[in-house]
Amino acid sequence: MIIGVPKEVKDHETRVGLVPAGVKALIDAGHKVLAETNAGLGSSLTDDEYRHAGAEIVPSAADVWAKSDLVIKVKEPQPSEYAFLRPGLTLFTYLHLAPLPELTDRLLEARVNAVAYETIREADNTLPLLTPMSEVAGRMAVQVGAQYLEAPNGGRGVLLGGVPGVSPANVTILGGGVVGHNAAKMAVGLGAHVTIIDRNLNRLRELDDIYSSQIVTLASNTYTILGSLKTADLVIGAVLIPGAAAPKLVRRDMISKMKKGAVMVDVAIDQGGCFETSHATTHTNPIYFVDGVLHYCVSNMPAAVPRTSTFALNNATLPYLMDLANHGLKAACEASPALREGVNTYNGHVVYAAVAESQGKQWTSLSAVM
Ligand SMILES: NC(=O)c1ccc[n+]([C@@H]2O[C@H](COP(=O)([O-])OP(=O)(O)OC[C@H]3O[C@@H](n4cnc5c(N)ncnc54)[C@H](O)[C@@H]3O)[C@@H](O)[C@H]2O)c1
Repeated sequence: MIIGVPKEVKDHETRVGLVPAGVKALIDAGHKVLAETNAGLGSSLTDDEYRHAGAEIVPSAADVWAKSDLVIKVKEPQPSEYAFLRPGLTLFTYLHLAPLPELTDRLLEARVNAVAYETIREADNTLPLLTPMSEVAGRMAVQVGAQYLEAPNGGRGVLLGGVPGVSPANVTILGGGVVGHNAAKMAVGLGAHVTIIDRNLNRLRELDDIYSSQIVTLASNTYTILGSLKTADLVIGAVLIPGAAAPKLVRRDMISKMKKGAVMVDVAIDQGGCFETSHATTHTNPIYFVDGVLHYCVSNMPAAVPRTSTFALNNATLPYLMDLANHGLKAACEASPALREGVNTYNGHVVYAAVAESQGKQWTSLSAVM
């Protein structure tokens, strides 16, 4: 199979879909890899390293897309890449289609077989390709929040850990999954008062066992969320219903009851965001204010730490990529229910139920069309 690695084009997106170690594994298995020139430069990976691993360096993105059977990326295709979509192409990347009807339409029109990292689900219900970036984003959310709480950056001038004689900051985390847990780890480490709110009581039990009296856990409902928001200095949105639009847990009127200069980091923005006031921002223009409350809603947070993120992502994607390359999409999906769960669009059909539901589109079962 010919595997293509384009350079990412999203704002400040400096991760890359495949590192030289992955190139070598594919070449050893008898495949061919085309890497766009400078595809890995943002992650400090040079063309020479790709060449050395066995890739052919290709001068333009158009060539990579046109000549590959499978394109491996990091972020969803951007409008400048829509022209490269074509029938029969297998696309393996983060897609987060629920809030992106235009991209979904393009994938359907072009009859691209799109496999989304974020919906691949193993038998134990884990999302193995979402996990590494959620670990990065969760840890980053606290770093970013601490930075924006500083007065020169627009925040209310609070140090997360406080100092002897002065209270630490209150950090509220909505959703205690991978992002939430990693955010909690950092916030607890910095000495903040941490509250985690989740609707899954078993998850709260696990977190309570891990952190004991270092955190407060609360069941998710409007009452507990509002109570926690009123005292929060930093709020981290980290809920997920896989494949679906994020539930709006913080309504517009709740924001006005928060402290001025408090900071909200909506990590769930890639699924539409869990604050009603959220809209996606970029690393170039990451923040805006609503009622004096600072919002940070960057949909590709891990791109700020590409060297860490690229390797963490590749560690997780490579086994699935090898299956796709060695067996082709159809046979790989037949052998792996986890990979099958990743297919979002196939030959002009939406085959992932939550995406179809979020966009009011027709859902078709993958087995009916594959
Ligand atoms: N912005 C970024 O750069 C970035 C990077 C990585 C991940 N993410 C996103 O972060 C979000 C969280 O990812 P994750 O890996 O932690 O997911 P996860 O499945 O591990 O955790 C989600 C948690 O949300 C909880 N939840 C669901 N509905 C809830 C509700 N109504 N109230 C309270 N809790 C609720 C679930 O019980 C679960 O514990 C996803 O949307 C993911 O795509 C964004």
